[in-house]
Amino acid sequence: MPIPPFFPEPNAVTEAIAVFSRPSAPRRLAAALLLTGLCAALLAAPPARAAAEAGVSPAPARRAEIIRMVRQDCGSCHGMTFKGGLGPALTPEALAGKPMESLAATVFYGRKGTPMPPWSSMLSEAEATWVVQQLMRGFPDSGN
Ligand code: HEC
Repeated sequence: MPIPPFFPEPNAVTEAIAVFSRPSAPRRLAAALLLTGLCAALLAAPPARAAAEAGVSPAPARRAEIIRMVRQDCGSCHGMTFKGGLGPALTPEALAGKPMESLAATVFYGRKGTPMPPWSSMLSEAEATWVVQQLMRGFPDSGN
């Protein structure tokens, strides 16, 4: 039976299928998609880097937990409003001009020979730094 004229040549169809199913074609597409993704990632990178430089802020739930802990536990020695008690004041005025890194180290490692205990079992180093940053700014009332 002759092939109807509106049907493409059987050869052309097989050829087209062969082109589409050639392994290099999907691979080229995958490579193009990957490249697009990389470009998008590069474009998104600067704000992410800026956030890291500004200091990592804990996730909201953890932030609320830390704020509660600092107000209760640190407040028991440093005063409920951080104006001082057994430990010195931790208000922005009291901490002004002190190096943040060494204050964060004091929180993380404590100060041997003083009542200031280490908080390394409760806070990561990044969280200790975040706590000091908040104290220097004026400690938040809650995590919200
Ligand atoms: C058991 C009491 C006590 C507790 C609890 C305590 N501290 Fe202290 N802290 C002290 C004392 C005392 C000092 C002073 C140490 C010294 O003589 O150098 C101090 C010092 C510090 C300093 C250094 C201040 C400065 O001006 O150099 C920081 C910062 C600090 N504490 C933060 C904290 C934080 C944050 C917490 C809670 C996570 C905390 N402290 C819990 C007693 C305490």
